[in-house]
Order: sequence, then C-alpha cells, then structure tokens
Amino acid sequence: MIIKKVELSAVAVAPSGYPNIGYPEVALAGRSNVGKSSLINKMLNRKALARISGTPGKTRTINFYNVNDEMHIVDLPGYGYAKVSKVEKEKWGGIIETYLHSREELKMLVQLVDIRHEPSADDKLMYSWIKQRNLPTVIVATKADKVSRNQMFKNLSIVKKALGVTEDDRFVLFSSETGQGREELWSIFEEICIPHQL
Ligand code: GTP
Ligand code: MG
Repeated sequence: MIIKKVELSAVAVAPSGYPNIGYPEVALAGRSNVGKSSLINKMLNRKALARISGTPGKTRTINFYNVNDEMHIVDLPGYGYAKVSKVEKEKWGGIIETYLHSREELKMLVQLVDIRHEPSADDKLMYSWIKQRNLPTVIVATKADKVSRNQMFKNLSIVKKALGVTEDDRFVLFSSETGQGREELWSIFEEICIPHQL
C-alpha cells in the first residue's frame, strides 16, 4: 500500500459523529495500552498521528483515519483499564458496542492482544461480539519485539486457546517498534477494503 494521503477525518462518540462518506472501514479493538494507536502510526508511516501514551486510557473517542480517500482505519477506545470509574467504563462499553452493532461500513475487526499476556475477560467478550456480527477478524498479537521467538509461539497458542478462535481467523504478529507484520496486515486490509481492478 502506498500511503498518499492520511487525515483524521472524524472524532466521534456516537453515530451522529461518524463520517458518512461511505468508505469501507477496518476497526481496531483491544485493551487500553495494547498498542492500537502505535499500530496506526506504524501502518500510516506517521510518528504521532494517533496519540500514544504510557498512560492507559489515552484514546477515549472513536477516531476515523482516512487513508488515500479509499478507506478508514478506526481507532476504538481501549477497554479494560482498571483505573476508571464504573460509570466511565460503561460509557466506553456503550460507545464501542453501538459502533460495532450499527456501522454498515465496518468490514473487518482487528482485535489486538498483547503477546505477553493471556487474553482478559474483556478480550473474550470483545471476541464474542465480533463473532456475533459475523465479521471477518484478524487477531494481531502486539509488542512482538518484547518476547523471544520461542516464547512468541508458545504465547500465541495460549492466546488462540483462550479466545477460542475459529479456523478462518487470521493472525498477525506485530511490532510497532520494528515494523514486523506491517506488510502482512496491509495486504489483509487491502484485500478487504480496496476493490480490485480487473
Ligand atoms: P489506549 O489509547 O489507552 O487504548 O492505548 P493504545 O492501545 O492506543 O496503546 P498505545 O499505542 O498508546 O501504546 C501504549 C504503550 O505501549 C506505549 O508506551 C507504546 O510506546 C507501547 N507500545 C505499543 N506498541 C508497541 C510495540 O509493538 N512494541 C513495544 N516495545 N512497545 C509498544
Ligand atoms: Mg490509543
């Protein structure tokens, strides 16, 4: 994918704020701090387009990134951050759930899990929402640079088992530090979102 244009086209908390231009979308879901915003920056060759922080809970809105006027990559609020109030957690859950259940442009859900940790109850819930909607899914194991190759494959099978993944799910090992997985993920995004010319 040659990135010719990138722009933050909308920041929303409800459907009234979603862009209505009709581009196909892939959305990124995952726990707070898993590396969603970092992955977006890496995919789009930008250092700080999506805001990153050592403080979990950075992205609290749905952010739509227009790529080449062809598709949107959507950064969803991170879930499962312990230090927010119950009311706030429910609000975030509502924002994500409404988007997942109502958005027609959504073509694929990318679920991010940290390769170092076993999936949480929230990860499992998210995975079951995706499956209920029958959406194509790619599971991205982030921070691959932080584990040895050996550990990586061990952990990957733990992740697969914990989520109860199905045959047709795809997996990508990713690192925003090294760029590992970037090309592979782009080819999946293109296959899903960019109409092929004959
Ligand atoms: P929220 O916005 O809170 O939902 O978090 P997020 O999922 O967007 O995570 P973010 O991209 O802000 O990354 C969180 C922290 O993890 C930052 O300190 C990043 O630098 C670090 N990080 C993200 N991806 C990687 C990676 O692939 N490798 C390493 N080593 N660190 C990473
Ligand atoms: Mg973020």
